Amino acid sequence: MIKWPYLPQDLGLEIVKSKGAYLYTKEGFKILDAAGGAVVNNIGYGREEVAEVIKASAIKNTYVLPPFLTPEREELMDELREHWLPTHLTRIHLSSGGSEANESAVKMAIQYQASRGKSEKNIILTRSLSYHGTTLNMSGISGHAARKRGMESYLPSAKTIETPYPLRCPLGSFHPGAKDYYLDNLKAVISQYGAENIAALLMEPVNGSSGGAIYPPEGYWKEAQEILISNDILLIADEVMTGFGRTGFKFSCDDYGIKPDIMVAGKGMASGYAAISGTYSTDEIAESIMNAGYLVMFHTFAALPLSCAASSSVLKILRKEKLCEKVAPLGNNLKQKLVSKLGQHPLVAEIRGKGLLIGIEIVKDKEKLISFDEQERITDKIVSKGLEEGVFLYPGGTGEYRDIICLGPPYIIGDKEIDLMVDTLGKVLNHIQVKYN
Ligand SMILES: Cc1ncc(COP(=O)(O)O)c(C=O)c1O
Repeated sequence: MIKWPYLPQDLGLEIVKSKGAYLYTKEGFKILDAAGGAVVNNIGYGREEVAEVIKASAIKNTYVLPPFLTPEREELMDELREHWLPTHLTRIHLSSGGSEANESAVKMAIQYQASRGKSEKNIILTRSLSYHGTTLNMSGISGHAARKRGMESYLPSAKTIETPYPLRCPLGSFHPGAKDYYLDNLKAVISQYGAENIAALLMEPVNGSSGGAIYPPEGYWKEAQEILISNDILLIADEVMTGFGRTGFKFSCDDYGIKPDIMVAGKGMASGYAAISGTYSTDEIAESIMNAGYLVMFHTFAALPLSCAASSSVLKILRKEKLCEKVAPLGNNLKQKLVSKLGQHPLVAEIRGKGLLIGIEIVKDKEKLISFDEQERITDKIVSKGLEEGVFLYPGGTGEYRDIICLGPPYIIGDKEIDLMVDTLGKVLNHIQVKYN
């Protein structure tokens, strides 16, 4: 008997083909992938030119130990430095996924502090609502209750600041004092642990699926970074979901005008054509670690030539077809339609986000912002019903703020796909309203 995945879940579909923004099942159903997988695919599925590049590289340079240079690695570094990375982030460390890349970022931050004679500066602050990956350390330090279950006794504990959450700010929804409230919390947490003990803050500039595209109050990140700088604490930006154009900016730190000391990207870096991620840092950090004689160890499959070739090819397609430039207008159109058709829906607490990363928070009581009971598994029901209607909607939430739907389609969608997403979500929410509320 086939048991897939390890713990079989409700979705139970066999996808036999993916093309453009659509998935095709064994039974012949066509499903719009409104999430680009796990908000991974930016350029659309089934691009032969990327496959050709992968094939050529697999034949020419099957496996090369990560520290050696290869033409594929060189081409990717050039592409990243010339066209994508902020100019101060010149050093590139490659791995195979977001969790690994975040682990590398944390290791670099701690090694950097040690290399300056500050080995006691080893706390990594994270945020109360966040997701940074599935390794033990990332599971421990992320603010994602559901993904820690059954391991709590073993995991490192998270030392967190509050995730700015305008809708659910303790002062009141969208309170004018929200920015200062959350900045005060950052300052208080720094004094609680002592700046002399803190290496870095690891944060998603915009929450991914844990919170569903939560943006902080205007001006928060700029001031937060000033506070970090004045306390000699590094800023690590986890742009695994937001990088490479997802929110309408190359990286969403650009949206706030902040300069992370270390930045992490994954997912869209090769649009799912290969498993590759990057940890990008300054010369100063890399040189300090190197001069101290420390090692930033590589993973065996890091920077596989075929993955680097796939990534370069994907990033060049994004540029050639000006796909990132399409994200903001597409996102505005999608959000406007969602707000006009579903903004008043009794189950919709908020429709938020920018570009093609949109979160929809679903509640039982809109007035009081009361969520459905966790046992009702409303997000799962929404996703299943969406699939029945022909659209894959991405489930979000952490177990605490559990009913969140994310939309993160490829950048190649058009009006037809936007209408299909909005209409399907409307149908699904009406179904939930009638059946479960
Ligand atoms: C913001 C963020 N960081 C890290 C990760 C972990 O990446 P991966 O699943 O590739 O290890 C994810 C995955 O969803 C993510 O959204």
